Amino acid sequence: MSNQLEKVKELIELRAQARLGGGEKAIEKQHAKGKYTARERIAQLLDEGSFEELDMFVQHRCTNFGQEKKHFLGDGVVTGYGTIEGRLVYVFAQDFTVFGGSLSETMAQKICKVMDMAMKMGAPVIGINDSGGARIQEGINALSGYAEIFQRNIMASGVIPQISGIFGPCAGGAVYSPALTDFTLMTEGTSYMFLTGPAVVKTVTGEDVSQEDLGGASVHASKSGVTHFTAETGEEGLAIIRKLLSFIPQNNLEEAPLVNCTDPIDRMDDLLNEIIPDSPNKPYDMYEVIGAIIDNGEFLEVQKDYAKNLIIGFARMNGQSVGVVANQPKYLAGVLDSNASRKGARFVRFCDAFNIPLVTLVDVPGFLPGTGQEYNGVILHGAKLLYAYGEATVPKVTVTLRKSYGGSHIVMSCKQLHGDMNYAWPTAEIAVMGGAGAVAVLYAKEAKDQENPAQFLADKEAEYTKLFANPYNAAKYGYIDDVIEPRNTRFRVIRALQQLQTKKLTNPAKKHGNIPL
Ligand code: HXC
Repeated sequence: MSNQLEKVKELIELRAQARLGGGEKAIEKQHAKGKYTARERIAQLLDEGSFEELDMFVQHRCTNFGQEKKHFLGDGVVTGYGTIEGRLVYVFAQDFTVFGGSLSETMAQKICKVMDMAMKMGAPVIGINDSGGARIQEGINALSGYAEIFQRNIMASGVIPQISGIFGPCAGGAVYSPALTDFTLMTEGTSYMFLTGPAVVKTVTGEDVSQEDLGGASVHASKSGVTHFTAETGEEGLAIIRKLLSFIPQNNLEEAPLVNCTDPIDRMDDLLNEIIPDSPNKPYDMYEVIGAIIDNGEFLEVQKDYAKNLIIGFARMNGQSVGVVANQPKYLAGVLDSNASRKGARFVRFCDAFNIPLVTLVDVPGFLPGTGQEYNGVILHGAKLLYAYGEATVPKVTVTLRKSYGGSHIVMSCKQLHGDMNYAWPTAEIAVMGGAGAVAVLYAKEAKDQENPAQFLADKEAEYTKLFANPYNAAKYGYIDDVIEPRNTRFRVIRALQQLQTKKLTNPAKKHGNIPL
């Protein structure tokens, strides 16, 4: 065998060794936990055969605690680039089979390299987390590595989409990289995220709590809102990430991919002409409205189990990606509260950063009253949503279906917050407040002097409702651009979006605003 051939053989052997990560036993252990290895995950995520791995021969440089005797090619993370539906993406996947996927100085350098490349090329970066946290033997160098990653997350924010998949442990300060990215996905039963684990919690607060109850996928999906998506299996999780990317552009200077629309744009849906119940206190399901107006009913909901009074997610209208924000009358009557406001604000800002038009469907009775909300800072949280809509320069189309009262009317993408096209259904009620509340304020004293105060108030309420609970008052002043037939909503929104394709609006130059965080 020639020298050259021998060297080629050695390369092939080294590659095979690197591909085994922490070795066959560790891979078996990983599989036994119902988890895939880093390379298996990347293969499922990317288009077949598209992955180009980088830094396969990187090794850690630690000499503490006998680490100098333990080396694995690649050092606990698989990094590189490939394609999803033919579009370039950068990826890193922590390999739990090597030192529990813990983050060393060199692992951080590998991750930073792909993040830098993603920024240079203007392509999304996807991080797959499965790690025991900072590599304990490396001390401050591991911490410094995290900080290098966080700094890049911050600089990339609003420039390239960043997506985090949590497929195993993600604890301590390590949670902050996913938290800084645009979207987080967790797998049920196999992943968890917390700043301090159950043992520390027990020591500090005396509280007994399991990993799952402290930071499992369902906790973060429903209670904290930390995760945007959950999946039952790793495969499902990776498929959701692929789908998510199909709705968003490569970077902040591009548009989302346009898809061939197979759903007639002028498709009318008679159901919408009858969906609003006669009683104003009766709910209906906003999902039915969303499903009826978007292309083929295909909706990728974001944070579906968190603050269910506000629905957010991606859809397409005439093949164009849109971000849908809609009050859900079926849950807490669609009221806005702190959590719903924060959820909506972050989504609106994502869509605005990445040139995705916003379609807002309004049926909101107001903000949730009470000490619970006020002490929790609903003023500031509500202001976040207000701010997000007001600063968004992407096309904004709003349809008011029923209630739109008071402050919540303004917050939900009204005309004066630079709303581009504001439509209302004939059932819309756009007013300062609902009838019962209004007459209680206006006629409280007068009612007391009446023979039948209840009847008096009911009559006044009917009078107020007739005068104000309609869309025509707002339309009279041009705050509503048109009152539309509900079944024609899809067509009218699509026409509005077509018109807005050349929209140009720039906010005043500034270093950055001061959103009420
Ligand atoms: C070095 C680690 C490690 C770590 C795991 N390993 N975590 N090595 N540094 N942080 C090693 C284990 O020693 C073991 O090596 C192998 O990875 C697999 O781990 P197991 O414990 O066998 O796996 P499992 O039973 O599944 O438990 C997973 C685990 C546990 C729950 C993550 O390993 C664990 O508690 N690790 C420590 C977590 C932690 O406290 N990390 C530091 C947090 S502080 P062998 O050789 O036996 O196979 C932090 C600060 C970050 O992260 C701040 C950023 C700003």
